[in-house]
Amino acid sequence: MIWWLFSFAACCVANYLFLKHKHTYWTRRGIRQFNPDFFFGNGKEIFQGKVKLCNGFRKQYYDLKKENKQYGGVYLFYKPTFLPVHPEFIKQILTKDFEHFTSHGLFNHENDYINQHIFNVDGEKWKTLRSKLSPTFTSGKMKGVYAILYSLAERLEKKVGVYAKTGQPLEIKEHTACFGTDVIATCFFGLESDCLNVPESEFRKYGQLIFAPRTLRFIMETIFNWKLLGVLGHTFASKKITKFFIPLIKETVAYRKKNNVSRRDYMDLLIHLQNENQLDEKELIANTMVMYGAGHETSSTATTFLMYELAKNQDIQDKVREEILRICKRNPDGEITYDDLADMKYSEMCIYETLRRYSPAAEVPRQCTKTYTIPGTNSVIEKNTFVLIPVWLIHMDPEYYPNPEKFNPENFLPENKHSRQDFVFMPFGGGPRFCIGSKIALMHIKVNLIKQFRKYRFALNPKTPENITFESLSLTLRAKENIYLDVTPVL
Ligand code: HEM
Repeated sequence: MIWWLFSFAACCVANYLFLKHKHTYWTRRGIRQFNPDFFFGNGKEIFQGKVKLCNGFRKQYYDLKKENKQYGGVYLFYKPTFLPVHPEFIKQILTKDFEHFTSHGLFNHENDYINQHIFNVDGEKWKTLRSKLSPTFTSGKMKGVYAILYSLAERLEKKVGVYAKTGQPLEIKEHTACFGTDVIATCFFGLESDCLNVPESEFRKYGQLIFAPRTLRFIMETIFNWKLLGVLGHTFASKKITKFFIPLIKETVAYRKKNNVSRRDYMDLLIHLQNENQLDEKELIANTMVMYGAGHETSSTATTFLMYELAKNQDIQDKVREEILRICKRNPDGEITYDDLADMKYSEMCIYETLRRYSPAAEVPRQCTKTYTIPGTNSVIEKNTFVLIPVWLIHMDPEYYPNPEKFNPENFLPENKHSRQDFVFMPFGGGPRFCIGSKIALMHIKVNLIKQFRKYRFALNPKTPENITFESLSLTLRAKENIYLDVTPVL
């Protein structure tokens, strides 16, 4: 018995020492690290929900800056995570030395084929896929998408009109998410979707699940070996989500092929690539789903925050409306064309300021794919090391944006934009992996502004807090509270 107890105690001590040793990874490589907590590493407060993900490494960020360091090392549980904080160094990682960091570093295993999409593959595979999918996002294609988007947004104007008439406050988080779902369903899947008026739609229900906090999955992917997880059948997205989307995509493709339907949209491009044997069915499904995931939530949360700030800042809202009406007036039909969007300069400043203040992707991830010696040092970033670029912390750093809490579109006046250094504004990431959908996103947000603000005024309803807080552990930056706005017609 005594031997059993002794062996058990020895095992515990060995395990403890081994784990302690793992938490010295960065120090052993001459890189500044921060005292990790046992088991949790530096993410304890994040996982306990005490600190929001976007703010999780705030202390480390400012400590590194104070110490004049361009980077440091933290731990997510036992996973060493490289934290670059200096914009010049970040630029180098994302652009010049991109070949060392071609991956996003999220869970990836070949058994999980739904997850083998453009966001997750790396190296040559990613390069080829990106060039195959890029034709959907050219300016020429955007014009076609704009026509669909603009007519879809008639519903927005109508719906807002109903609220203006009844005096009921409008909850904009769900409202913008429903419209965002309709946009992706229509422009990417080519499906007729009307979540805005039928909120219990399945499309919305499963879309919501994609962005629901996935804490347990995230912890498993951080702690355990991916090969093991993959073999055990672990998948990035839950089975509930894939069970809904896979048959839907298959049916859409089959219908289009059978009936020779062409809408000159993203789905057409994928079908074309499949017909030319450049993409198999699994890749087609994966790359359709990723657009749904990457596209609808980010644009809708940005729209939500923008509407909230415009409701709070009536003077800014007036200027946006004046700009829209000025452009509408110069066209005989009173509508705004694709080419007119470029003239929405002030609205664009407001959109950029929203993407700064409430960057939906608060962190941009990378994984080292080829061992990297940090220029001018002997420190080495090993292959497979996870890298976290603290986008939101940079956007909220007073060194780059004085009074960063304040919503100030003037931050994006041309002269202010040009006087700022590179890579202190990265809502769409940077370098060759820069968000492929950024043009659609900007267009989506502008159409939201046009159709909702030209006839209606939005103001904060008393139920809406003066300062909103963010959801803990959400993949994107999302407001925790519901945001109610009062709507009245513009006289
Ligand atoms: C405001 C809206 C959006 C924001 C803030 C946003 C942000 C981002 C960010 C930060 C990345 C990572 C970039 C990097 O690693 O350097 C990304 C990648 C990506 N985004 Fe977006 N995005 C938005 C809208 C969209 C839309 C509308 C779509 C598609 C319809 C889309 C599709 C993608 C895809 C496919 C990637 C992966 C690109 C690659 O790895 O090559 N995004 N986005």
